[in-house]
Amino acid sequence: MASYRFSVNGTARTVESSDPDQPLLYVLRNALGLTGTKFGCGLGQCGACTVIIDGDAARSCITPISAVASRNVTTLEGLGTPDTPHPVQAAFIAEQAAQCGYCTNGMVMTSAALLARQPDATLDDAKLALAGNLCRCGTHHRILRAVMRAAGRTP
Ligand code: FES
Ligand code: FES
Repeated sequence: MASYRFSVNGTARTVESSDPDQPLLYVLRNALGLTGTKFGCGLGQCGACTVIIDGDAARSCITPISAVASRNVTTLEGLGTPDTPHPVQAAFIAEQAAQCGYCTNGMVMTSAALLARQPDATLDDAKLALAGNLCRCGTHHRILRAVMRAAGRTP
């Protein structure tokens, strides 16, 4: 069985897997207990499973474990804590930007990646970045308000 060593939320982790194509999503949730990352479609189509890999938002359901060896993975648990939330997490709370909350991980992680590389992102930038993240509840308006709040653009 092969071993894969990579960083998760700043901590070096080693995971064994007999399948180099095992999705990172399964490793995070089942082997490492990081259940903030959600299984939505499993097909790369909804964004619920988004994590940040070396600064870029990535869909962990279609990222094989072999592709993250020696790379830096950040999950929702690595962004902030209930006491000290990441600015994007704080903005989602302030704007009450969730209904069922199932899409929220992907929305937060994608937005955090956007603002890390583009802190002054505009509403159009946020719409573009989140275009592939689906929300079945229709919370898009509040989500975009939260991203703009995190970008310091709250009216
Ligand atoms: S669960 Fe990965 S994109 Fe839907
Ligand atoms: S809040 Fe329910 S899917 Fe987005």
